[in-house]
Amino acid sequence: MTDYTIEFVGTGETITCSDKETILSRCLEEGIAQEYSCRVGMCLACSAEIVEGEVTQPAARGLTEAEAESYALTCMARPQSDLKLDRGEYPPSIDDELGAGGADETAAADD
Ligand code: FES
Repeated sequence: MTDYTIEFVGTGETITCSDKETILSRCLEEGIAQEYSCRVGMCLACSAEIVEGEVTQPAARGLTEAEAESYALTCMARPQSDLKLDRGEYPPSIDDELGAGGADETAAADD
């Protein structure tokens, strides 16, 4: 087991997390207000942008292959190096999850 340091940019928060633990579980243990919902890698609520470092997250089914290079689903992701994460950033496919376009379609229908 290897312990890594995870820094959350812009918050001043830093935790340690082993390569056997999920980032979300460590956030919850440390009292860090990381958002989450499904905890099974599908809803994207727990997403964070990977600013620096690497994670493994084979069960992050809610991310596209390309998104998995730049975003971590913290409920599934385990660190493979020290990390810098931005918790306020979500992958583009979250728009599909939230039904983006619906608001525009409604606005267009009102015109
Ligand atoms: S909590 Fe839903 S994807 Fe992580």
